[in-house]
Amino acid sequence: MKALVKKLVETTAPSGYEKPLRAVVQAEVTPLADEVSVDALGNLVALKKGSGDLKIMLSAHMDEIGLIATHIDENGFVRFTTLGGVRPNTCLGGRVRFLNGASGVIGSERLEDPSKTPTFEQLFIDVGASSRKDCPVKVGDVAGFERPLIDMGSRMVAKSMDDRIGVAVLIETLRMLQQTPHQVYFVFSTQEEVGLRGATTAAYALDPDIGVSVDVTGTGDTPKAGKMEVSLGKGPAIKVRDGGMLSDPRIVDWMVKAAKKNKIPYQLEILEGGTTDARVMQVTRAGVPAGCVSIPCRYVHSPSETVDVNDVENAVKLLAALLSSPVQLE
Ligand code: CO
Ligand code: ZN
Repeated sequence: MKALVKKLVETTAPSGYEKPLRAVVQAEVTPLADEVSVDALGNLVALKKGSGDLKIMLSAHMDEIGLIATHIDENGFVRFTTLGGVRPNTCLGGRVRFLNGASGVIGSERLEDPSKTPTFEQLFIDVGASSRKDCPVKVGDVAGFERPLIDMGSRMVAKSMDDRIGVAVLIETLRMLQQTPHQVYFVFSTQEEVGLRGATTAAYALDPDIGVSVDVTGTGDTPKAGKMEVSLGKGPAIKVRDGGMLSDPRIVDWMVKAAKKNKIPYQLEILEGGTTDARVMQVTRAGVPAGCVSIPCRYVHSPSETVDVNDVENAVKLLAALLSSPVQLE
């Protein structure tokens, strides 16, 4: 599993430019699924057929937050804006890689007040060029952050754990799922970080009976963190509510019962801000009962997103338990 996670997190694939990651995922799921397809927005859909008619859509997003070049100055420095929720305080000194292979480091103008976080307007990317003419990056080029995976034993650290760890969980669940009484659609979605766009069209097309996203959530277990009852290592989190969705209480119940029955540790998640693909699955067409299995993650949207290996393995077990039995929503 760690080898798979390494391959996924070390691929550069910001929102709208998921193609390199889709190739990695497609190679993994093709031998495991009954049908694999790619839609107009680039979502990869792997279907595991079962004996019954109930359609369950699972979704984990392939894209990661990134940067896009907006201007190249006469000395070859690149100005940029963001793709998704990047913050300036995680940029300074950061390393990036453009899709064409060019590397860069993020520098800052001299700050009047060095104790203040710079604004994006004060930051630039140095790609080793000395003029606009020899700059390997042009306006519109897209970059992702560059960080290798760190294996700390029970913890793993990388950029883009959001949501490559969800992608890994879906692949491992598909691998583990011997049989199912349902039609299970494993969706590897696009453009989540810029507004849940891939999952919006995938949910419309698949018209599922149940929707479940697999994504990261924050934790409250670091020094002076905001109050949140989720910690690393205490099990996958069953989402009750986030900034964009109230999970269907029947889905929460279904998940809690399966966790208890199979003795899988779990936590209940109430997240103040942010949301997941489940939001758009819930409100597609005439509405779908939806929920989310979250992987607790520290430092979300920084280049050092940190997860616990046990939570990841238990998320796979929970999903496999949910998908391998008949569903009775009460
Ligand atoms: Co995110
Ligand atoms: Zn995410």
